Amino acid sequence: MSGIPHDHYEPKTKGEKWLHSRLPVVGLLYDTLMIPTPKNLNWMWIWGIVLTFCLALMIVTGIVMVMHYTPHVDLAFASVEHLMRNVNGGHMIRYLHMNGASLFFVAVYLHIFRGLYYGSYKAPREVTWIIGMLIYLAMMATAFMGYVLPWGQMSFWGATVITGLFGAVPFVGESIQTWLLGGPAVDNATLNRFFSLHYLLPFVIAGLVIVHIWAFHTTGNNNPTGVEVRRTSKAEAEKDTLPFWPYFVMKDLFALALIMVVFFAIVGFMPNYLGHPDNYIEANPLSTPAHIVPEWYFLPFYAILRAFDSEVWLVMLVDWATFGIVDAKFFGVLAMFGAIAVMALAPWLDTSNVRSGRYRPMFKWWFALLCVDFMVLMWVGAMPAEGIYPYIALIGAAFWFFYFLVMLPLLGLIEKPLAPPATIEDDFNAHYGDAGHGGGSSATAPTPAE
Ligand code: HEM
Repeated sequence: MSGIPHDHYEPKTKGEKWLHSRLPVVGLLYDTLMIPTPKNLNWMWIWGIVLTFCLALMIVTGIVMVMHYTPHVDLAFASVEHLMRNVNGGHMIRYLHMNGASLFFVAVYLHIFRGLYYGSYKAPREVTWIIGMLIYLAMMATAFMGYVLPWGQMSFWGATVITGLFGAVPFVGESIQTWLLGGPAVDNATLNRFFSLHYLLPFVIAGLVIVHIWAFHTTGNNNPTGVEVRRTSKAEAEKDTLPFWPYFVMKDLFALALIMVVFFAIVGFMPNYLGHPDNYIEANPLSTPAHIVPEWYFLPFYAILRAFDSEVWLVMLVDWATFGIVDAKFFGVLAMFGAIAVMALAPWLDTSNVRSGRYRPMFKWWFALLCVDFMVLMWVGAMPAEGIYPYIALIGAAFWFFYFLVMLPLLGLIEKPLAPPATIEDDFNAHYGDAGHGGGSSATAPTPAE
């Protein structure tokens, strides 16, 4: 696929020419900022910028915190308390970092579900999608290791439970677990390596984000219609697009400003709302908390992990058929990673030739159910694994797999989609009228069923 035709940077002054022939960095920045962007992007396209902001916020606040933090089991908890109580603005930096992680995950889930609804994962954007999935996995690993650093009760026991999952891998599990922990149990060696990796991974994420942006700049953005920008000529492309600067930069900054109002209200007035009080108790290997609950953003996948216990007939069957190699614990681990894997495979599981969910009447309902399912899993993941909860978790987990493995391939075959508009310009004009936009063909454009 050829890129969207547009004006490229032309160095004008002598100085610009000198630099451009040696390092075309200004050209790169210019082309990145002026990239033609579909002019019908709606408010669901703001999350990429929010994510970029979160990454920067996490790196900056993290680096300041490291100036006061000590990665040692005897000192870690006290060093965080010192940061909170004695360092000027220290509590603010920490609360920004703690709640920044939550904002990061809110944004990433909305970004992912936006992609799932508008079919942004479909050809030719599979690579953008897969890199996004790698970013998401790296975010989960970073958040998990970061939570261990304050060395509170949840830090310690969360780390014990989650690293224990690796012990479920047949034959080599115990060795992997010991290797991860740096010893037989969560201890100083674990804290040290988690600290090191927690510092490293955000920069790996930053690198992946650059490749992510490079990938969707190569294919062009998707948009709510799923219809591609016309590329036959620059004049045609200009009818479907606007340059990223200043139009989308301003729109994104406006959205970011509104989100910041809510974010700072939480950071300022209820900074511990999303946290667990037990993490203000120093880690004690001799006292297990009553309920070990992960952070909210892990809950849907934690629910899937726990859903497949030894009472489930499928688990029993697999356990029996594999002579006990795939037992309930390992099955749960496979299900948890499998739930992410099936999402990553969406580009190849979706058989519909219409990209955007807007024009897919049946898909819309199933997608709505997926969103409900995700929320239910998040809720049930925080509940104790007793009474009715394991059943709810099991139904929720089964639906997740059913959606990706059965419905996504099937819908493309049985559904009769509506006709998307012929061009992005048509969609834009149908929404905003074509006055002063060069006279598009709004009269013929179908009104998108949003
Ligand atoms: C640090 C995390 C991430 C950052 C900074 C980021 C950044 C961006 C940006 C700036 C865009 C442009 C459009 C927009 O604002 O929505 C974008 C598009 C996209 N992202 Fe991400 N992203 C991240 C994570 C992810 C994840 C986890 C996925 C899902 C697996 C994903 C999938 C996509 C796809 C498919 C598109 C392109 C299609 C389109 O423009 O509609 N991204 N991303």
